[in-house]
Amino acid sequence: MSKGTRKRGKAEGVGPAEAPRPVGGRGGPDGASAKVHAAQEHNVYLPVTATVTKIELEAGGARPIRTFTFEIDAPAEHARFLHRPGQFIIVSQFGTGESVFAISSFPNADGVIQVSAMKVGNVTGKMHELKVGDKVGLRGPYGNDFPVDAWKGKDMVFIGAGIGVSPVRSVYQWVLHPDHRKDYGNVTLIYGARTPADLAYKEEFAAIEARDDVDLWLCIDWAFGPKGPIEGDAQPGWPAINMKAPGETVVPEGKRRFTCFVPQLVEVVKPSPENAIVVTCGPPIAIKFITQALAKLGWTPSQIYTTLENRMKCGIGKCGRCNIGDIYVCKHGPVFTYEEVKRMVNEF
Ligand SMILES: Cc1cc2nc3c(=O)[nH]c(=O)nc-3n(C[C@H](O)[C@H](O)[C@H](O)COP(=O)(O)OP(=O)(O)OC[C@H]3O[C@@H](n4cnc5c(N)ncnc54)[C@H](O)[C@@H]3O)c2cc1C
Ligand code: FES
Repeated sequence: MSKGTRKRGKAEGVGPAEAPRPVGGRGGPDGASAKVHAAQEHNVYLPVTATVTKIELEAGGARPIRTFTFEIDAPAEHARFLHRPGQFIIVSQFGTGESVFAISSFPNADGVIQVSAMKVGNVTGKMHELKVGDKVGLRGPYGNDFPVDAWKGKDMVFIGAGIGVSPVRSVYQWVLHPDHRKDYGNVTLIYGARTPADLAYKEEFAAIEARDDVDLWLCIDWAFGPKGPIEGDAQPGWPAINMKAPGETVVPEGKRRFTCFVPQLVEVVKPSPENAIVVTCGPPIAIKFITQALAKLGWTPSQIYTTLENRMKCGIGKCGRCNIGDIYVCKHGPVFTYEEVKRMVNEF
């Protein structure tokens, strides 16, 4: 979900432990470099440099998506970048600016971080011109995380729409990891994009589809004509479902690909809310209808987790750019239950 309702509020006070400090010292020749180094160590706004080691084109078109693999240059910084599923990172394009991205890779202490970025503007535009070997700056990891430990013993349902699959990926990778899979029950993965070419992580989904412990469902949007959705299949092998009564669709044995929007696919799949958790992310309009579809199936807002993508600057609860009332999405989030999201929106 992105760009939730936001009211600008006063940023919190700058506490001593997190205060940005000026880079540079006033000491004489003997102490100057030590002071500069000490100041840099404590400057929370100072990115570390990382090298681009891999770039994968996930989806083409006017707003392409690429997955970037970064390796942090200084080995001493690797452990500090060990993240939890749901956290985000701030990527600097030197000379252009910073952008915020969900970390889409599995947590590791090797200094390897992946993000999947859609090209929408200045910084992401520059990012899409990167080549392997180029340098970027990284700050983070920031924000809270999905409570994966509290979910042990539950069935897990993951629902991603468009680029929203990126934050969802870090959680399903966690749950499906050989070290963790036994801790969770049934796993259902529902994901949709505009066309088959727009579906991200194709190799990964092919591997997931081959597993017998995951129920993977994919959909592509309806093809649109001048007067709205064109009835029929958008792609051979991707049958259309009845958009007016998706829940009545009879699914042919083994069929897992359809032409419809993600919320309608949710009504076709009918994931059970019993002892289960949903993790979902996507454009706000998709989340609105996904949560309505889940409600029809008996899911409560406290069982539904999502991540907010309010505009951010500092990423650490200082600047007041991302807040909804007194909630700082960068610091108290970006992970919230749908119950919390509803309360925030209603209150502010
Ligand atoms: C916690 C968090 C996680 C995110 N994760 C991802 C991710 O995994 N992949 C990804 O592609 N993007 C993600 N985003 C969105 C991403 O940060 C913005 O798309 C990016 O910063 C735009 O930078 P820009 O300079 O290229 O665009 P700009 O030139 O600043 O803006 C270009 C267009 O993008 C829109 N835009 C800018 N920021 C946002 C935003 N936060 N949400 C929605 N629209 C925006 C603007 O309204 C404008 O229309 C995330 C944002 C947040 C806060
Ligand atoms: S307070 Fe600065 S981005 Fe959240």
